[in-house]
Order: sequence, then structure tokens, then C-alpha cells
Amino acid sequence: MKIGVVRETAPGERRVALVPETVGRLAKGGNQLVVERGAGEASSFPDKLYTDAGATIGDAWSAEMVLKVAKPSDDELERLRDGTVLIAFLQPLTNHALVRDLASRGITALSMDAIPRITRAQPMDALSSQATVAGYKAVLLAAAALPRFFPMLTTAAGTIAPAKAFIIGAGVAGLQAIATARRLGAVVEAFDTRPVVKEQVQSLGAKFLEVDLGETGEGTGGYAKELSEEAHRKEVELLAKAVKENDIVITTAAIPGRPAPKLITADMVRSMKPGSVIVDLAAETGGNSELTEPGKVIEVNGVRIDGTTNLPSTMPYHASQMYSRNIASLLGLLLTKEGTLNLDLKDDVIKGTVITHGGEVVHDATRKAVGETATAGAAPQRKAVPGGATV
Ligand code: NAI
Repeated sequence: MKIGVVRETAPGERRVALVPETVGRLAKGGNQLVVERGAGEASSFPDKLYTDAGATIGDAWSAEMVLKVAKPSDDELERLRDGTVLIAFLQPLTNHALVRDLASRGITALSMDAIPRITRAQPMDALSSQATVAGYKAVLLAAAALPRFFPMLTTAAGTIAPAKAFIIGAGVAGLQAIATARRLGAVVEAFDTRPVVKEQVQSLGAKFLEVDLGETGEGTGGYAKELSEEAHRKEVELLAKAVKENDIVITTAAIPGRPAPKLITADMVRSMKPGSVIVDLAAETGGNSELTEPGKVIEVNGVRIDGTTNLPSTMPYHASQMYSRNIASLLGLLLTKEGTLNLDLKDDVIKGTVITHGGEVVHDATRKAVGETATAGAAPQRKAVPGGATV
């Protein structure tokens, strides 16, 4: 298979789809690797490392399979040849025009954010690998901005009390944020509407806040579901107290396919001590704090609210390395020993990840979102679907 690794062009995107380590393995497996000049530069992988690993530097867009991180822009789509295999974060539930375009051009598109969250697919789970980076970096942003130490210190100038951190949402990013804040020495509390995560939170040395919501926030497939108004009110009451008492609040609460739940009110922000920091990892889907401005860092009454989006891209070396390994695992399913494409749509992982193929939208949830009539050549139908998977 001729596999192309292209240079990302989305503003602020510094990751690359394959790092030299993975290129080397794929080249040894008999594949032909073409890397666009400078593709790995922003993530500290110069072209020389790719050529040393067995790749050539050239027109990666002309390959049979094109690997990317971000969804292709209009300009990039023009460079993609009809019939190519494309793998990237496509967010197909919200990018309907793109999905229709890919289908109409006979592109076999696989979306890394659609990998089923099942045990067998864990090595390919790019949402998890990138959420790990985001959870870690969120704590570093908070630590850098906080006018306090994280750990307790006993010094000649007296004892310094440890910082107090509160993590809302204990999914992949939240658990990594808890672990990182603990490693830096903070005293950590966490809350999630799925009570099943209590043990995981405690095993990381944090306190799990408990409240009787009158229902569980557990939805299907391990994900959360939206709470009723009454349960939401009870949660907000619990959060108000915790937010006021903590120096750092990191929010990660998300419901698949929905806008982020609004959990931190303007009044809660005003109740925090000056110098406190909120890092809102849900900024991309609207934010968990009602004051968050996605993509911006603002200050309200001396409280910093960080709504930086695409945190994985701010740690591009390891974010790319993890993404690259996720892709390599997926290719292990997709490519035969001879390097040909084996699109076995009876395989749950492949079926859940392929969005368009053979001129059609073949992914069930995407077909539903785009419109039941979605087939190649149908008129573009732009329909706003709030939320969706983010990276
Ligand atoms: P996510 O990014 O969709 O949500 C983050 C967290 O926010 C979740 O833990 C959710 O319960 C929580 N949340 C939602 N609404 C909330 C609210 N109102 N207040 C407080 N917290 C709220 O979730 P993520 O990190 O993608 O993973 C969620 C779950 O998916 C995991 O815990 C696991 O069960 C499952 N999973 C399974 C994998 C596998 O088996 N391959 C891999 C990764 C995740």
C-alpha cells in the first residue's frame, strides 16, 4: 500500500498523523511511505527522521491511503484524489457537507473519533489517547497560572498549605487530570454523574464527592446521559460549594452528541478566591462554565478562566506519537500481509469506523445524522447538530 502522511494546515494544529517510529514499522512491513515535506516539523520530527525510517519525501496526497489528524479543509479536499482511503478525525456527526463530498467522490473515509469504545479497540482509541494529553496539560496550565504552590512545603519560612483542585467529570481526561494534580502534590476532589467511577477516582488518591441525584447519569456504552432538571439542580448545588472551596477547577464534563452541560455559573466564579484558575476542557463544545470563551483565556474578578481548545496540539510530540500508534493498530486490522486493503465490514471495529465507502455513507449514526437519503450526489444538506466528538 502506498501510504501518504500529509502536513496539517488547520490553524494551530501541530500534530502529525504518523511519527517516524511507526513509519519504520510500516515500511518494514512492505508498504511504501510518502511524507509531505515538513509534515512532522511542528511536532519535532524533522524530515530526516522519516527518510531514515524508510519514507520518501514527496506528494503524499497522491498516495492510495492518506493519513491526517484534522479533517481536510476545502483546499485539502481538492488535493485528495477520488477513490483514496482517508483516515483522520472527521467528526462526521457534525460535518455533513464534508461527509457528502467524501461519499460522492468515492473516498473510503475512516474517522478516528468513531472507533468503537470496546476493549478490543483500545489500542486504536484516539479519543482516549488525546484526552489523556488534554487532561495532563490542563493541570500544567493551571499550575503555571496559579499564584500558589501545588504541594505542601515545609520550609524555613514556615509551612505552605497544598493547593486544592476540583475535577468535574472523571472520564479519560478527568482521571488523567486527577493523577497529574496528585503527582504535583495538590489535594484533589472530583465529581461525576456516573457513580461507577468513584472507585477509580479514589484509587488515584482523590476524594469522590457524593450526592443523591435521584437518578444515575450513566447512559449507554459507558457514556453519560443528560440529567433531568431536578438532578441538574442538585448537582449544581453540590458544585457551588466545591468550586468556592478550591483553588483550581478543571472541567471535562461531556455528553456525546450534545453541547457541554453548563455546570459553573457566573455566581460560582464570583465566589472563588482571587487567583483561582478554571480550565474548561469542554470549551470546544460550548464550555462547562457559562463564562468560558472558547479559544480564549479571560479573567473575571481575579479568577482566570482558560478556554484553550485543542490542548493535545500543544504537546504535539507525544500527542502525535500516541495518535500514530492508534493509527498503526487500526492499519493492523485494515491491511493484509501483502499490504492490500481488507475492508471487512463484518468486523465491529471497522464497521464502526468507516464513514463513507463505495460512493455511499455506510456509517449508521452518520447516515441518520446526515439524512436517511444521503447517497453520493445528493444535494448538500447542512443541518446543525450540537456537540459531537472533539479532539
Ligand atoms: P466524555 O469525554 O464523553 O465525558 C467526560 C466525563 O464527563 C464522563 O466521565 C461523564 O460521565 C462526565 N459527565 C457528563 N456529564 C456530567 C455532569 N453533568 N457532571 C459531571 N460529570 C459529567 O467521556 P470519555 O472520557 O470519553 O469516556 C467516558 C467513558 O467511556 C469511560 O469512563 C469508559 O466507560 C468509556 N470508555 C471506554 C473505552 C474502551 O473500553 N475502549 C475507552 C475510553 C472510554
